[in-house]
Amino acid sequence: MADSLKAILYERAEGGGRRANLQLLDQRVIPYSHEYMDITNCVDGWKAINSMVVRGAPAIAIAGVLSLAVELANDAGSAGEGSEGVEEARRSICDKLKYLVTSRPTAVNLAIAARDLTQLVTEASAKPGATGRDLAEAVIAAAEELMRTDTEGNLRMGAFGSKAIQEACRKRRSKDTNLRVLTHCNTGALATSSYGTALGVVRSLHGDGVLEKAICTETRPYNQGARLTAFELVHDKIPSTLVTDSTAPYLMSKGGVDAVVLGADRIAANGDVANKIGTYSLAVSASYNNVPFFVAAPISTVDLSLPDGSGIPIEERSSREMTHLPDGKRVVAEGIGVWNPAFDVAPAPLIAGIITEYGVVWPNASGEFDMKSFIDSAL
Ligand code: MRU
Repeated sequence: MADSLKAILYERAEGGGRRANLQLLDQRVIPYSHEYMDITNCVDGWKAINSMVVRGAPAIAIAGVLSLAVELANDAGSAGEGSEGVEEARRSICDKLKYLVTSRPTAVNLAIAARDLTQLVTEASAKPGATGRDLAEAVIAAAEELMRTDTEGNLRMGAFGSKAIQEACRKRRSKDTNLRVLTHCNTGALATSSYGTALGVVRSLHGDGVLEKAICTETRPYNQGARLTAFELVHDKIPSTLVTDSTAPYLMSKGGVDAVVLGADRIAANGDVANKIGTYSLAVSASYNNVPFFVAAPISTVDLSLPDGSGIPIEERSSREMTHLPDGKRVVAEGIGVWNPAFDVAPAPLIAGIITEYGVVWPNASGEFDMKSFIDSAL
């Protein structure tokens, strides 16, 4: 993947030295500008996530834990060298992880990564003779591993998704023509370590030679589709069309969409999916128009503590995203009330299949998803 589509640049000096560098592509200025920001600690990481420099559930998790990794790698004093400092180091790392999780509320991947790292450092701190440095090295290694395995998982997800969508479309179409696949928001290389989840599936369909075109929605009001997905599709020379969010259901009604594939910020145990605002209306429209509706996400997006989607916290963002143009010009009458939820929830019964890096989760004979059984058998 070319560097222009790398949201996260990370390197650590050869030989496990302490110097590490993290840079995040400032996605707020794509496509006009291509600027990377230096991230040196988890306060920088929190600010970058909270202000949308980096966004997309997997990228948020990777950027968050790597911001802690660079802080630990570069600050010899932050984690006690001797075994006497180990409890202090454990507490400090756990507090920083808790803090990072507060950066944005809906995507769960960072919370799950923080939970796993908390467990890792707690176990490491209990080992006889453990030092603060051991804990720091364990966190750094796990954060680096998260970045590496995300890409591998995306490539597998792309292959599973391409096959699943081809089969679903073959079943319901009389002619075996290439596919027109609609996606929403940005779920590509910019939302992950590289390649992407739902947009990774679109890349794989294109790579398999079966994609007529991708259709991407603008994704109002933040326009991740128009600004980021369109940029990625043009970059990869994938034939594609941009539509307004409200055009998508009309296009489905005209027979112009063969399948929908989009990402997820949090998936409940029953398969309800929280994703970018507009996902619910796309799911309802797809169901009404008999268009298979797929979700693609790594299993780190599944929150088994929630039985269904009703408990997923939905981020509400500034009214300014709706009332002002990016250049700061107000385009809405002063005094109007504004409600700007950034996500909504697609109910599981509207979903044809959930594509993961371990295969596709299909509903059972009663039309229900069992995310826990799938994860238990996958891991
Ligand atoms: O507000 P954003 O841009 O972080 O929202 C991103 C999405 O909703 C994506 O669809 C989701 O995180 C999946 S990214 C692979």
